[in-house]
Amino acid sequence: MSTVLSAVAWPYANGPRHIGHVAGFGVPSDVFSRYMRMAGHDVLMVSGTDEHGTPILVAADSEGISARELADRNNRLIVEDLVALGLSYDLFTRTTTRNHYQVVQDMFVTVRDNGYMVEQVTSGAISPSTGRTLPDRYIEGTCPICGAGGARGDQCDTCGNQLDPTDLIDPVSRINGETPKFIETSHWFLDLPALAGELGHWLDEREATGLWRPNVIRFSQNILEDIRPRAMTRDIDWGIPVPGWEDQPNKRLYVWFDAVIGYLSASIEWARRSGDPEAWRTWWNDPETLAYYFMGKDNIVFHSQIWPAEMLAQNGKGDKGGAPGKFGELKLPTEVVSSEFLTMEG
Ligand code: MF3
Ligand code: ZN
Repeated sequence: MSTVLSAVAWPYANGPRHIGHVAGFGVPSDVFSRYMRMAGHDVLMVSGTDEHGTPILVAADSEGISARELADRNNRLIVEDLVALGLSYDLFTRTTTRNHYQVVQDMFVTVRDNGYMVEQVTSGAISPSTGRTLPDRYIEGTCPICGAGGARGDQCDTCGNQLDPTDLIDPVSRINGETPKFIETSHWFLDLPALAGELGHWLDEREATGLWRPNVIRFSQNILEDIRPRAMTRDIDWGIPVPGWEDQPNKRLYVWFDAVIGYLSASIEWARRSGDPEAWRTWWNDPETLAYYFMGKDNIVFHSQIWPAEMLAQNGKGDKGGAPGKFGELKLPTEVVSSEFLTMEG
């Protein structure tokens, strides 16, 4: 008998969910979890709604309501749908709980204390007409790596590379087509190059199991080759406050820094509710635990690079050393499970 963590992608609370979510991670994670329970394993299946970041803010703005109101409404809709589908989560929570904020801030502080967060001045985009920060994914241009048009400031969907808005050739705002203005702003960067060696070892070990789907393992190994520090804070006023920057409410933790920590915070919440607050450790600190992550294709990089890097940094396992924080030595994914995109009607 093993302990099995079934970690299911957290849908954005920016609207109702669609068939891609059900086919991509809903059904696969549910089939897997039900099977593992029947086979006698001790399964913990957690997820929730992902409620921070630009997707939520932009949807709220377009409806003229607050981000919190929008997230509340969509969280209810999504929960109803998932319940109606009969998905067997042990806990389906949200990223706006007090517990999640606390766990994320604790992670951030440990990662920084261990030396894996570096402060850098970068160039941030603002809209010249409104003076507001222009989110990465609302800037569009030509991909500097593969030359495809329509690449976003966070990622190019044609070649799959992560990008920064300043990398784009001929950037324009997707909101109104204007050319963004770039200003200087300070951010905390996750020192991915200092974790690349450990990430590589882990991926090699995973590859040797022969279990991962070829698309996932190959993609994950490819993106290691061009690894760079990545900003884990944003110029945005909706998100988890940055420890030490409480006096700058216009800077928050990057939504992906906080969302992936949801797997851990939800396990902690589940344990607290179950009456044994330390029970989560079985699924996170036991090296024998099997941890399976289910998601859509565009989420792979965050689960095979950013989340393992956050855990390695928290564990003090990288070129800069360090020691585990209060969460102890966290177990990296056993498998990152993802399909290709679902195509409908061509
Ligand atoms: N909200 C993201 C999406 O819908 C998925 C987040 S998965 C998590 O694409 F790992 F961050 F939780
Ligand atoms: Zn590209």
